[in-house]
Parts: sequence; C-alpha cells; structure tokens
Amino acid sequence: MGIGTVLVVDDEHAIISAIRRLLELDGWAVLSANSADEAMEVLRENDVAVLLTDNRMPGESGLHLLERARAFRPDTVRILLTGYADLPTAMEAINHGEVFRFVLKPWVDADLLAIVTEACERHRLIMGLRSGSDGTVRSLAQAVELKDHNTRGHCDRVAGYALSIATALGWSEADKHDLRYGSWLHDCGKIGVPGSILNFPGRLTPEMYTVIRRHPGWGADLGRQAGLGSPIINIILHHHERMDGSGYPAGLIGEAIPIEARIVAVADVFDAMTTERSYKRGLSFQEGADELRRLRGTGLDPLVADAFLDLLHPVGAQAVSL
Ligand SMILES: [Fe+2]
Repeated sequence: MGIGTVLVVDDEHAIISAIRRLLELDGWAVLSANSADEAMEVLRENDVAVLLTDNRMPGESGLHLLERARAFRPDTVRILLTGYADLPTAMEAINHGEVFRFVLKPWVDADLLAIVTEACERHRLIMGLRSGSDGTVRSLAQAVELKDHNTRGHCDRVAGYALSIATALGWSEADKHDLRYGSWLHDCGKIGVPGSILNFPGRLTPEMYTVIRRHPGWGADLGRQAGLGSPIINIILHHHERMDGSGYPAGLIGEAIPIEARIVAVADVFDAMTTERSYKRGLSFQEGADELRRLRGTGLDPLVADAFLDLLHPVGAQAVSL
C-alpha cells in the first residue's frame, strides 16, 4: 500500500501510463515527467519519496538524471528502469550508491511494487531517523522488526541488556544514549532483506544467507544518510563481528571491533539464544549463560561477557529486564 509520492520518468507515454495505473491502484501518489529536465522541475517543486526513471531517453540519460537528483535531493530514493543491455551499467550504479535498486524491463508488476514499497520504507526510515526523537527512532526500529516474525521485542531487549552492561562498565549517560539508539537500530538494514528470506521456514540456502549478511552494510548506509553519529553506525555495521575474526562484514579481530558493537553483540547473541524462534526453542537464562561462557574470548568480548554474566548471576532475569 502506497505511503508516499513517486515520480515516474520515461519518454514513452505508454510506459508512464502503465506504471501510473499500477502504482495508483496500490495507493501511491504518482507524478510523471517525459525527460530529465522536466523531472528536475518536478523535483524542485515537490517532495518526492521515490524517483523511478527509464535509462535510455532522448537527451539526458536516466543515470545522469539520478546523479543530478542525488546532488539536489539526496533523500529521494532512486530506482532505474533498465533494459537487459544496460544491466552492467545499472549494477555498477548500485555498487557506487548512485541507485538503490533497478527494475528490469519488461517488469513483473508485483516485483515493481515490492521495489517501490521498499524504496519508500527506506525514505521514511531516513526521514524519521533524522528527526532524532526517541519515540520516532524506537517505533521505526520496531517497524523493521515486524518484518522478521521471529524477532518481536528483540530491539527493546537488546537495548535493555546492552544498557545494563554499559552501566556495569561505568559508561556515561551520553555514551549510553548512543548505545540505546544503536541497539534499537542494529538490524535496521533488514528493511533491504526480502521478507520471504527473513521468514523462510526451512534451512537457508547459501544465496539467502549471502543476502542476510548484507544487512549490517545496508543499515550503516541508511544511518550515514540519516546523519547518525559514528557510535550508532559502528553498532549497526559491526554487531556481527566476532573476536576471532570469524564475523562479518569486515572480519575485524578483537579490539579492532568498536566497544559499542562488542557490547551489542553480547546482548544480541544472548537474546537470540534465549527467545523462541519458529525453528528452535529458546534456551533458559541458565543455558544462555553457559553458552556465553563458551563463547567468551572466541566469539564475544570476554570482559563484556563477564560483565553481563555478573548481572545474570545470581538474581537471573530480573537483574537485566529493563
Ligand atoms: Fe543483525
């Protein structure tokens, strides 16, 4: 269901009409332009969440338009509509961050709608993060969380555990503020992962796993664009790093992993182990603590894990259920 304005640019009227019909039926507000120059005019006068443009047009190409649009309206999410012949160029544009996604012509309606929806979710997330209010950031994190049916309440619990650890380590309130935001948002890159993969009922294929492993990088891009501070970006980007270098995305080792990310890693792992998922039962807190002891040093920071284990013992759950 549409929740923003989409600008469709194509020199062929038939294509604009077909896309307009499709998007309007789904509830989107649609603006259109027949050339790059016309599109820039529309961008100047309207608040556009998503820009969807054809590449090959008389005059300026779609890719060039997206470059101009990026400089002028950096928050508008850019999608390239492209023929098979231009695919290598489109891939390169994605790798350079010029383009969020591409749609291959002829398109499948459901795919185009899914990509536009995802682009708009990204736009909403960036705008909300920039607002910087606790309530907005937390509710955005919860909206992402809802995509993964297994992780309800995960962001709040991770924030609670991480803040308890930080308090035990003597952190200041200012540092804890960033830790709270980073904990809420650590998985925000999952908006880029299709729900069909996040909620896949069986064992993930290597290809699916590759897509999931991109969520820290995608999330960090989002955070940078929203102007979040570096401790928050560090948490989003590095919460899956492991002390022995076996984590991702950078394979950082030991203290090369920012401390804020090492704290959230302990909180994240513990919550993942101790909550029930559709594919596994949750461990008890006692079993979870035993696992943390096993992982301390190899996977998780030993000092951070010890601080958390001290909190878990001897009172159990109550000590950390904020
Ligand atoms: Fe994650």
